[in-house]
Amino acid sequence: MVNTVIVGTGDLAYALAHLYHINNTADSGHFLEVTKASIPQKGATFHETLVPLIPLDDALEHADVVILAIPGNALKTFIPAHVMVLKDKILVDCSNSDRNGEDLDSLIRSTGIRFVKAFNDLGAVDILANKATGKKKSVTKMCSSETKGALEVVRRLAEQSFGLDVKVVPYEHYREISRAQNTIGKEWIHSIYIMLITFVLTEFYAAWRYNVEKGYAWFHLPIQVTNKAICWTALTGFALTQLPGVIARISNLFRSTNLNGYSRTLKWALTIRKNLGILSLWFLGVHIIMSLLLMNPAYYGKFYVDPTANHSKMNVTGETSFFFAILGAMFYFILGLASLPSIGANMTNAQWQLIYGPLAWTALLFGTSHVLIMGVKGWADQGKWPGGLPPITLTSTLIPMLVIFLKQVEVALTFVMGLFGSHASKVKDNELNQIRSLIYEGSMQMQQQGKGNESGNESDDTHESGDSQLTSSTVGFNHTTGDVETQAAYVEDKV
Ligand code: HEM
Repeated sequence: MVNTVIVGTGDLAYALAHLYHINNTADSGHFLEVTKASIPQKGATFHETLVPLIPLDDALEHADVVILAIPGNALKTFIPAHVMVLKDKILVDCSNSDRNGEDLDSLIRSTGIRFVKAFNDLGAVDILANKATGKKKSVTKMCSSETKGALEVVRRLAEQSFGLDVKVVPYEHYREISRAQNTIGKEWIHSIYIMLITFVLTEFYAAWRYNVEKGYAWFHLPIQVTNKAICWTALTGFALTQLPGVIARISNLFRSTNLNGYSRTLKWALTIRKNLGILSLWFLGVHIIMSLLLMNPAYYGKFYVDPTANHSKMNVTGETSFFFAILGAMFYFILGLASLPSIGANMTNAQWQLIYGPLAWTALLFGTSHVLIMGVKGWADQGKWPGGLPPITLTSTLIPMLVIFLKQVEVALTFVMGLFGSHASKVKDNELNQIRSLIYEGSMQMQQQGKGNESGNESDDTHESGDSQLTSSTVGFNHTTGDVETQAAYVEDKV
């Protein structure tokens, strides 16, 4: 039997006691108690979990495993105060601090006391929503520096009594595990920076072009003008998510490399694609809402048959531009849905390739077409560009068009190299067929030899004739190319 005590009565302690309550069975061999300094006597239970509340000294005395569900900075005082009773126990560090002196690694690593980093990545509110009847397990990470089985004991406790799915990670990641809970992740941070910088630059450009140069009233800045920066940012973000994949594929064509062979920048760009895509989707959503709010001839006369009327039907520009806009937007929503873990995890590789391949490219193509259709006519009239600033339909499509162009280069190169590849593979197929024939003939020869030996014929003669037949049949195959001849001679040796 393993006696476990949770020190602390905060959210994490409550969550673990709840897990124990809904998962632990009598035959698990585990027994759980909760304690803290101010519990005077036995008898009470911890909320509705039915886990007994025990006075601190008693609880520590008979515990095998001590889960320290107290703040990192409290460890500095708790450990020295109870070191004599704790020294033979397995301690569990649940702190999220990576400051020296606020985790067990920095406090007791060299003392020989066994400890495991665990449970710090559990969200208490999420855990409390778990039910005994639920099918899903929460995943948690743990690690330990020692080899005397402490990790195994805590892992079994987590799996059997708390119903958790445990991922054990190497000890080098101890700090990373603590730190991970205090950051939103570098992929998000970098993507947010990229999108924010893009938005600030495009907003500045839009305000300059429309409010300053074109004389739009400043009260149009929040929606009419900002909408332009918002959709420009969305389109740029979508294009940037596609760019690293194309560069990687083009480089694969020439260097037949794998992830490891890519430059650091390319690897980094590949890792932030999903985050960039989700942020771009947010910008697209805002663009659609803002656009729908303004969708009338007074704001967007160029999309209507009669721009001066209160109500007018759309003209060909409006209908075609929004046809591509709506299809493109819906494709992007599918991409967004597929990025949800609950959906993405159940997708096959082929489904994944389809959605993040042809569908993603079609979405980018349609989004770009939506803008080109509405704006390309006005590009030539440079004299009318306010303050000499090119229209946003032009500036916003430069990066997407470059990315689409690179994709076309990749497709063309793949096709051309495929032609050479298929020639090379035909040559290889021929060689393989010849090799198979040689092996077949060789084995027939062996069989004949075997039969000869069995029937008592003179074995030397048979062996000689076998060799010569093999050689002549080999030569028989060697009349096509010089290459094949060499290959055949090599194979003959092998056979
Ligand atoms: C793939 C999805 C889409 C992308 C990437 C996208 C992007 C863009 C871009 C870059 C512009 C040019 C802004 C300018 O020249 O000022 C634009 C304009 C516009 N888009 Fe979209 N858009 C998308 C979908 C939609 C949808 C679904 C709607 C419908 C509500 C829409 C409504 C508009 C409107 C009304 C304009 C004109 C804005 C203006 O001139 O101020 N867009 N869009």
